[in-house]
Amino acid sequence: MTDDAVVFVAGARPNFMKVAPMLRAMREGAAPFRRVLVHTGQHYDDAMSEVFFREFEMPAPDVHLNVGSGSHGAQTAKVLAAFEDYLLGARPRGVVVVGDVNSTMACTLAAVKLGVPVAHLEAGLRSFDRTMPEEINRLVTDAVADLLLTSERAGDANLAREGIPAERVRFVGNVMIDTLFQQLPRARDLRVPETLGLAPGGYALATLHRPSNVDDAARLTALVDLLERLAGRVPVVFPAHPRTRERLDRFGLLPRVAATPTIHLREPLGYRENLGLMAGAALVLTDSGGIQEETTALHVPCLTLRANTERPATVSEGTNTLVGDDLGAAWSCIEEVLAGTYKRGGDVEGWDGHAAERATRVLVEAWG
Ligand code: UD1
Repeated sequence: MTDDAVVFVAGARPNFMKVAPMLRAMREGAAPFRRVLVHTGQHYDDAMSEVFFREFEMPAPDVHLNVGSGSHGAQTAKVLAAFEDYLLGARPRGVVVVGDVNSTMACTLAAVKLGVPVAHLEAGLRSFDRTMPEEINRLVTDAVADLLLTSERAGDANLAREGIPAERVRFVGNVMIDTLFQQLPRARDLRVPETLGLAPGGYALATLHRPSNVDDAARLTALVDLLERLAGRVPVVFPAHPRTRERLDRFGLLPRVAATPTIHLREPLGYRENLGLMAGAALVLTDSGGIQEETTALHVPCLTLRANTERPATVSEGTNTLVGDDLGAAWSCIEEVLAGTYKRGGDVEGWDGHAAERATRVLVEAWG
């Protein structure tokens, strides 16, 4: 027996800003479904999870799987088993997963094997780099999910190339940018740069957390060198993911960073604080997927410390440049940004604040 519930899965930090606009678009009366929110517990710290529920005024999760951290295999297995257990009792109409984290793939597998339809939001993105754990999650999720909702046109092309029938694919645009536009006025009101003593437009924001950047001592040292060099020109705000802080400490780099007065090392920021800082930054240096998109929407220059991106519209249409391993190239881009000659980018199709409404219409049509 299925009921009229549609289950939304959120597990890790980059999921919450994608689920929030969907829950809003599906609020009472807007769709013939009961919304259920399942938190897998992949991220669990206040700064990595709870803060987003407060800021987005999201309902508390209906179900919490409390899986916590672990190796990829262990974490994925725990989510898979716990979500399967939940579904066996619940039998919902459908499951909506977002993004590319371990929880996304695990919940998709659990649902499709029980015959529960799955919709994947942000489908079709490909970095073509299978050493990246998220790439495996994307490939597996898209291979078995029923409805693939894409955020940029490259996603449609990738899925077509993989032989996925067009009737499973719908372009809806970028739900994360819905949240950005909804939160931007409140983020600006916080005047975050000013509270840190920074002049709007006169500082850089840096975020790093990918294993390929932070797990290797030589690579992380080179990146700290780059941050120090940048901090010689403009102050750098550096909110560190728990993994990054741990590696800086392990490799003996933490005292160096802490001793550079123009590097503001911080705990992970809340959504609005981070958005306020991005919106006022001269430049963002990152290895995050979402931040590449957010800076494009904000027309703020972004240098991505990776060799590839699964979000090519941020480079072709937006403000992003991939600097990969070539930190010399990164410095040339930084010079361009500081000289005011760097590209400002244009708008990307479907990144307009209404993607969740379009996605909801697709779900009602498919499952209503
Ligand atoms: C995960 C996602 C990644 C996303 C990132 C954003 C996967 C494969 N990766 O990576 O795509 O960009 O989230 O943050 O799903 N930790 C804490 N507190 C927390 C959560 C984690 O201290 O609330 C620490 C733990 O030591 C943990 C480590 O961070 O072992 C890594 O967390 P994990 O969820 O395994 O992956 P992320 O690197 O956060």
